[in-house]
Amino acid sequence: MTLYRAQVVDTPDDPFRGGALRCDGDAGLLVEDGRIVERDAFATLRSRHPEAQLVELSDGVLLPGLVDAHVHFPQVRVIGALGMPLLEWLERCALPEEARIAEIDYARVVAGEFVSALTSAGTTTALVFGSHFAPAVDALFQAAAGHGLRITSGLVVGDRMLRPELHTSAERSYDEGRELARRWHGVGRSRYAVTPRFALSCSDELLASCGELHRDVVGSWFTSHLNENLDEVATVRRLSGTTNYLDCYDRHGLVGRQSVFAHNVHSTDTELTRLAEAQASVAHCPTSNAALGSGMFPLNRHLAHGVLVALGCDVGAGTGFSLLKEGLQTYLLQRLRGVDGVPLTAAHLLYLATAAGGQALGLRDQIGDLSVGRRFDAIWIRPRPGTILDIGIRHSNGPEDALAKVFALATPDDLGQVWIDGAPLRARAVDARPLRPQSRRRPEHPRSKKAARRTNSDERTRHRGRAGTDGGVSR
Ligand code: GUN
Ligand code: FE
Repeated sequence: MTLYRAQVVDTPDDPFRGGALRCDGDAGLLVEDGRIVERDAFATLRSRHPEAQLVELSDGVLLPGLVDAHVHFPQVRVIGALGMPLLEWLERCALPEEARIAEIDYARVVAGEFVSALTSAGTTTALVFGSHFAPAVDALFQAAAGHGLRITSGLVVGDRMLRPELHTSAERSYDEGRELARRWHGVGRSRYAVTPRFALSCSDELLASCGELHRDVVGSWFTSHLNENLDEVATVRRLSGTTNYLDCYDRHGLVGRQSVFAHNVHSTDTELTRLAEAQASVAHCPTSNAALGSGMFPLNRHLAHGVLVALGCDVGAGTGFSLLKEGLQTYLLQRLRGVDGVPLTAAHLLYLATAAGGQALGLRDQIGDLSVGRRFDAIWIRPRPGTILDIGIRHSNGPEDALAKVFALATPDDLGQVWIDGAPLRARAVDARPLRPQSRRRPEHPRSKKAARRTNSDERTRHRGRAGTDGGVSR
């Protein structure tokens, strides 16, 4: 058992529904087998458990692990392109790089870079757009398991309007997805997500096969893009003959509680009503929306309709892996929306970057805050002494003010440690700094659809737990 002593800040109750930020200045968290088993004032908990190994995190602030609801694995190396709208950016930047991932040795290298970048930014759980190539998706799942990352991902599919080498067929898409799901869905912390790129690049037949796969892989997730850019929306409407973009997915059973749609900047009320009714979620990707000039996210309308909104960094259109930056950009954008903007506090930003993502991914019983019963997925914000963030936190007017400074100023360099399931992921920042006197201790293809249907029960019974609760973290 390990007893963590820290200033703990989290959002067990949704601030959009009146929940308050929870701040405990000198909290103790007792962790056993990766799970928080007790939480109390540190002194109380210490006296109850004098035998527990003590980890003092006595400066900075401990937050829940960040949850990214939308990020692209093969786009690590195209971050930072400027000056293009979505469709031009896809053609000139993203898709040529995604074609390179066909080469498996390259895919393995990029998968390592991707998972390291996510965890180094404090992301402990992610819904990830995989690759158009099944071996590359396999490499991603392997890299994620090696780092212990909680990942939901899948084969990206499309059969039109992409580069020809990225096109698939309905049958191949099903078969390859099915095989990847057999290998990874429910294995350790990995789950499978059916992932058509967007309705623009998918025929109705391909989306029908996605619907079939989503039904056949019990407990699978579904993710895609929706209403991101006006040219994209106009093209989808023309190709599908409907003004309801969401319906391209809905007519194949792809809109439900386990569906997460990225962007939804240009949504109709009909679509918002349907998203809310289906309890589907939207991943808001604010730096991407700004970088591609996609538009100003109508958070007010999502909230008014009761649609759950989480955050995604949307690398490589987004400007980096930090969900703290996405939180700040969410705040700034809502300020710029004037009377249509939602006034946000630091509590809202933390909720969006943690618990909302956990909710969108159906993992809220395990992650999203640091309550008793949750897994110990946590990040320790510990800025270097003398930095503006360090000074700001030490001179803040209480924890909510300190948290606002974290969103304004913190970068991945300010992370002292990241844990998933109680296992520390990176010791670099802690090692790199001198310990302060006395207090600081180092924390420590089924072949055919018929064959596929025959093996339909596989996913229900398999829980190999290879990357299970005992950690298994590298770095
Ligand atoms: N729509 C379809 N593909 C993509 C992508 O890779 N990034 C973004 N931002 N939007 C998309
Ligand atoms: Fe995206």
